[in-house]
Amino acid sequence: MFQVNWDLGSAPPKRQEPKEYKKRKNQTEKAKPELIKNKDSKGQEPSTKKQKQEQKESEKFAIESKQPSPAQQGDKKLANEDSLTMLQKKMKGKLDGAKFRWINERLYTTESEDAVKLFRDSPDMFEVYHAGFRHQIENWPENPVDVFIRFLKERYDKKKRPVNVVDLGCGEAKIAATFEASKHIQVQSFDLVSANKFIVASDISNLPLEDGSVDIAIFCLSLMGTNWQSFLQEAHRVLKPQTGQLWVAEIKSRFSDKSGKVFAQELPKMGFENTSLALGNKMFTLFEFVKRPLLEKPQTLPPILNACIYKRR
Ligand SMILES: C[S@@+](CC[C@H](N)C(=O)[O-])C[C@H]1O[C@@H](n2cnc3c(N)ncnc32)[C@H](O)[C@@H]1O
Repeated sequence: MFQVNWDLGSAPPKRQEPKEYKKRKNQTEKAKPELIKNKDSKGQEPSTKKQKQEQKESEKFAIESKQPSPAQQGDKKLANEDSLTMLQKKMKGKLDGAKFRWINERLYTTESEDAVKLFRDSPDMFEVYHAGFRHQIENWPENPVDVFIRFLKERYDKKKRPVNVVDLGCGEAKIAATFEASKHIQVQSFDLVSANKFIVASDISNLPLEDGSVDIAIFCLSLMGTNWQSFLQEAHRVLKPQTGQLWVAEIKSRFSDKSGKVFAQELPKMGFENTSLALGNKMFTLFEFVKRPLLEKPQTLPPILNACIYKRR
């Protein structure tokens, strides 16, 4: 069974070969000297001009046809290519899954500064992470980002008044892509890596936006860093006074009360009044808040939102 070294701060886990793969690899390795011997039936290097010519032709055939050389074809110990490919595919799937869980855990258990550094040093990890995330979401009854897209369509599509939406921790920026052609729903997307034309690379604890300039701030499963409260403070700064809305979707298992009711009750301490709470979905809870003035400094909330950690396999 593949094991992951979960040490934080260490490099992503190295691939370990399972027994079945090792056995097959050993068989192939053992087969190699046989192949060389077959080039010369006496098991020696070709010595005569004719033997050398035959070996050359055999090697040329192997290169040009991408087939085993006549000498190799004789070897009955060659591993079955088809089943090895299947095995390799299975191994790759497991390895990608392990990398996804490693990145995910890192994002949930460190400050966003660390997340910025992680993706700056290895931008490829963003694609690995999102491939894993896409795979995970496939098994969910509904993707919360689609619910937010539906809300925007239902409430603002027919209105002519412009609405300025920011998608904070946007992933692949599905919301912006959906409303690309819309004249009045304007979406700005922020994430750690600018993986496509919609995304501005930015730490969402420090947004390149004016105070009081945004109508709706969305955090769809993106309150990830241990400093997630600073993401909410930043959303409070950029939202319009009195009318600015905060939409949040989070996985139920993250909440200390496993539903999110406590989260809704605590957020007024950060200047957000809860206006809607949808608990019906099995996997996640949806919240809507409206910005309220903060009369004093935002208070630190109790530990109401846990990291989302996968079970060790
Ligand atoms: C679980 S994914 C959800 C993506 C998207 N909102 C969706 O629902 O499809 C969370 C996203 O938040 C981003 N994220 C986490 N911390 C961030 C930070 N400090 N600044 C910007 N993006 C961040 C991650 O890079 C990731 O793309």
